[in-house]
Amino acid sequence: MTWEGRTPEEWLDGMALMRTRMSTDTPNAGIEQTEDVWTADRIREFDDIWAESPRGVLTTIVLHDASGKVAGYTELGVPEEAGRPADQMDTLVLSDHRGHRLGMLLKLVNLRELSTRFPDSTVVETINAEDNRHMLDVNEAVGFMPVAYSARWKKEIARA
Ligand SMILES: CC(C)(COP(=O)(O)OP(=O)(O)OC[C@H]1O[C@@H](n2cnc3c(N)ncnc32)[C@H](O)[C@@H]1OP(=O)(O)O)[C@@H](O)C(=O)NCCC(=O)NCCS
Repeated sequence: MTWEGRTPEEWLDGMALMRTRMSTDTPNAGIEQTEDVWTADRIREFDDIWAESPRGVLTTIVLHDASGKVAGYTELGVPEEAGRPADQMDTLVLSDHRGHRLGMLLKLVNLRELSTRFPDSTVVETINAEDNRHMLDVNEAVGFMPVAYSARWKKEIARA
């Protein structure tokens, strides 16, 4: 299922779970991360922010047949200006549904939709944690090439 812009009503709760899992399931180089809980209302607030932004968002979800629930999602940020790169943002498959190449399928479907709906959008950028081998495997197979590296640092501040 693919849509542009605001999250369809029927997928609000499913998308809230997806974004909550994004806060806990991504490898983070051992840096502690706390669960960031999303609700349907928060998804709507996020939709409103996106609606005012100069970028559009193209989302693809995969549904689990038996339960009808959202099992995974991916999203692309699409700039208004032709020629500027689109941004491959979140991708997640719920842990119970991993191992079926759904991450790859989600990305390929969303990229196909990008080229159909936004034919001027011919370059896509993304960012990956170096320790996220599962996502890197997908991106390398899709054809992403490394262009730059950045680092994240953490400093423990001793309390007096
Ligand atoms: C990246 C991701 C979508 C890949 O999931 P997927 O499409 O189901 O992966 P695949 O089907 O290609 O899995 C290949 C193998 O790796 C395993 N695998 C995939 N992701 C795994 C994970 N996060 N942890 C442990 N094993 C994982 C699968 O079970 C499968 O094993 P098998 O070959 O023994 O069956 C998934 O790992 C995920 O949602 N990660 C958390 C979110 C994330 O890091 N997103 C990227 C930042 S935007």
